[in-house]
Amino acid sequence: MKTIKAFAPATVANVSCGFDVFGFAVEQPGDEVTLTLTKTPGVRMTKIEGDGGRLPLEAEKNTAGVAVISFLKSIDSDAGVEIFLKKNLPLGSGMGSSAASAAAALAGINHLLGEPLSRRELLPFAMESERIACGSAHADNVAPSLLGGFVLIRGYEPLDVVSIPTPDNLFCTLVHPHLELKTQDSRQVLRSTIPLKDAITQWGNIAGLIAGLMKPDFGLIGRSLKDVVAEPIRSLLIPGFDVIKEKAVESGALGCGISGSGPTIFALSTEKETALRTGKAIQQEFKKLKLESEVYISRINSTGAKVIS
Ligand code: HSE
Repeated sequence: MKTIKAFAPATVANVSCGFDVFGFAVEQPGDEVTLTLTKTPGVRMTKIEGDGGRLPLEAEKNTAGVAVISFLKSIDSDAGVEIFLKKNLPLGSGMGSSAASAAAALAGINHLLGEPLSRRELLPFAMESERIACGSAHADNVAPSLLGGFVLIRGYEPLDVVSIPTPDNLFCTLVHPHLELKTQDSRQVLRSTIPLKDAITQWGNIAGLIAGLMKPDFGLIGRSLKDVVAEPIRSLLIPGFDVIKEKAVESGALGCGISGSGPTIFALSTEKETALRTGKAIQQEFKKLKLESEVYISRINSTGAKVIS
């Protein structure tokens, strides 16, 4: 019996202006998946830890299971696989929890079977699992969790994923308040049309953020971390959001927004100290509203999902 353990990181999807098209990976936290090849064909989830008993143990309903099932199907394999999922990422947090489970499972199974597919070729299976998790096969969490780095999903049909170089001295603050928002619900509140004026603002910021990361130009990054499409509506679901944003910028962060579909808040800074200070300031605001939270500080993770043992 061959067993391996794989890790995949949390991700910040959207990065303010890039709804469904931008995402980056952080170093920690992340999910761990242990996969064992068995003689009995089929995919089975043997155990899930850290989810408080809330995730389904049926492989067809779990993002790690779905990803492995669709991967095996695509390579015509009748391998037997047992999956043990250790959830370190909170559910409904906006940190790409379902995506990290799928990405770790895919990096693991691909390795176990001798790397028949490239990382990029694994993406459609991870997207399939996002569809199961929240009804939409967006790639802005799964792509950075699998590939690492800052990723642009230039197009979905066909899938066109572009890795964007980022400056070394970019630190991400994540503050996760103890609140849960289901991605499916946070997507349903969005408007289905965008006024032209807002679209112009948004695509200016999208281009500005990419240019800012590539030059690099930190002022431009900060000015471009603005979202007039999803944030104005979704922020209503996050207590204290407007003050939190002000405090983050006062603390020296380049900018601040909702991580994925929330409620986790992300901020970007050029110094680790600033990232820490920003985290404390945001945590304090949540505390005033009687919300406990965790803070994570990290550089952008350029590796993505990896086999750890
Ligand atoms: N782009 C997706 C959304 C990410 O904002 O709904 C979900 O984490």
